Formats: sequence, C-alpha cells, structure tokens
Amino acid sequence: MLKVENLSKSFNGKLAVDHISFQVEKGEIFGFLGPNGAGKSTTINMICSLLKPDSGLIFIDGIETSSTRPQLRKKLGVVPQDVALYYEISAEENLRFWGELYGMKGSQLGKRIKELLLFFGLDERARDKVKNYSGGMRRRLNLAAGIIHQPELLLLDEPTVGIDPQARHHILDAVKQIAKDGTTILYTTHYMDEAENLCDRLAIIDHGRILTSGSQESITKIVGENRFLKVSGQFTAENAERLPGDIKELTLISLQDKEVVYSLPMKYGTGEFIENLNKSGFIIENLSIKEPSLDSVFIKLTGRELRD
Ligand SMILES: Nc1ncnc2c1ncn2[C@@H]1O[C@H](COP(=O)(O)OP(=O)(O)OP(=O)(O)O)[C@@H](O)[C@H]1O
Ligand SMILES: [Mg+2]
Repeated sequence: MLKVENLSKSFNGKLAVDHISFQVEKGEIFGFLGPNGAGKSTTINMICSLLKPDSGLIFIDGIETSSTRPQLRKKLGVVPQDVALYYEISAEENLRFWGELYGMKGSQLGKRIKELLLFFGLDERARDKVKNYSGGMRRRLNLAAGIIHQPELLLLDEPTVGIDPQARHHILDAVKQIAKDGTTILYTTHYMDEAENLCDRLAIIDHGRILTSGSQESITKIVGENRFLKVSGQFTAENAERLPGDIKELTLISLQDKEVVYSLPMKYGTGEFIENLNKSGFIIENLSIKEPSLDSVFIKLTGRELRD
C-alpha cells in the first residue's frame, strides 16, 4: 500500500531524514517508533506531499506521489501532530468543512458526519464550539476529520500526545477499529507501549535513520536476551526454588508471596518449563511469558533509553 525508497530530507544542511526505505502492506498497522526529532513528522509530511523530498521515491498503492497528487488525495488521510481544526466552529461544522474539501456533499456527507460523531463519542457535543472541547475531544475530532473520506491509507502522527490515559485508550481503540474496517495505517509514536499494542510491524527510527524494522518478534530477537516467565498462584518458596530442576539455564529472578519470575535464554523453548511447572505442585493462576522488549532493542541499538 505504501512504499518508500531511499527517502531523504535535510534542513539547513542537517539530515532530518536520512535515506530511509520501508514498505507498509495493505491492511496492517505499521509503527514508526522514535524519540523527539527522529524524523517521524518530516517523513509523514513528505508522504502526504506537504514537504518535497531531497531525494527518494514514494509510492501509494503503486502510484508515485510526486506526479499524481489529485488521484492520491482521496486514497490518503492525514492526522497531523498538531491539531488542525477550526476552534470557533462546532465539531459538526469542522467535519463538514473537511468532507467538502474531499468533494463530499448532501446526505452522503451528513450520514458520514453523524456516523463519525457517534463513533468518537462526540455526538452529544456536536454543536459546541471546538474551543470549548477538552484536549482528548479535540484529538478525537482531529482523527475523525482525517478519515471523513474513508481513505485507504491513513497517516497518524502521534495522535495521543498530551492527553490523559483514558482519552488515549479511546483513541487507540478507535485506531484498531479503523484498521479492522480495512484502512492501512502508518502510526508514529514515541510511546513504546503503543507500538507494542497496536502495530503489526514497525520501524525504529532515530536521527533520521531506520535502525531496524520488521515484526516485534523479529526485532526483539536482536537483543537475544532472556524471556521472562512470570507465574502467579499458590506455591511454597521451596517449590519455586526447586522448579528449575534440570533446566540449567533457568534462573529465579524474583520470588514474592504469590508470584515468581524466572528468566530463560531465548534459545530454549518453554515446553520443559511448563512440564516442570505442572509436576511441581504449583497451583497456577496465571502464567505470562514476556519476550525481550522493544525497550531493550532501542538501548542495544542506540546506547540510550527511549523516553518521553
Ligand atoms: N521546518 C523545519 N526547519 C528546520 N528544521 C526542521 C524542520 N522540521 C523539522 N526539522 C528538524 O528535523 C529533525 C526531525 O524533526 P521531526 O519533526 O521530523 O521529528 P519527529 O520525529 O517528528 O519529532 P517529535 O517526536 O518531536 O515530533 C529535527 O532535528 C528538527 O529540528
Ligand atoms: Mg513529530
């Protein structure tokens, strides 16, 4: 659905995006995870033709973007990092404005506006001026405006920045639903957990460069560290200490009242561990297996932590 080849852009002689290439397949949520100044917005702005690349090519659904803008407008939706709404008019009027820009009108537009207001939980406040909205409501409306024309590809530039956890949840659920309904999504974020929860595949970007990309599973293999196996339930300390048995590489990490954590190098499967667990007299309430995280990958690749 989206193919980017060797794309670069510099500002004042400094590369903001440094010859990146990646591809987003139809139907997936592709994450662009990176800290402030990594080049996420610059990339998004080039994809939607707001910025002209210094070099490189962008294809949307096989169409090269620099030559054929009008054809692409209907395929593409953009939700910019800075909320792009008119504050002196209502949510309904904002959506009408954006819909008309995309050539929508009449009952088709009216129906779509109603549907979006309902979907984003804004229907009761639809006639209020946007200036009286909370930050979370503005973010939701910003997202609604980006999908009014039901684009095939949606670019989301940090759509949850600066809002409370509940509002953030609401947006993330909406993004998942939009993807389920068939829209391909490029999602930029500097939140590790969003990338983890949302994205089918992702690229880690820093200083304008893609450091690694792929599925979370393949990316996290880079660190080649240990899996963490967390068991909660009822057991004695003695049970917990004896459990590793003949699995030499299994190490007890922490032992609390009802929870014990072991670590096991990635190269070992968890089958034997689970067998031991079943034989051990544990009453298991929950077992979770935590694979090496994107966090540790970022540290490994950059030598520093990805923080807000
Ligand atoms: N219009 C501009 N003029 C000059 N420099 C710019 C401009 N836009 C971006 N930059 C620089 O390019 C680099 C990448 O910026 P960009 O906004 O793409 O990062 P980002 O990953 O979106 O960061 P954030 O998470 O803060 O939004 C930064 O060093 C930034 O200062
Ligand atoms: Mg940005």
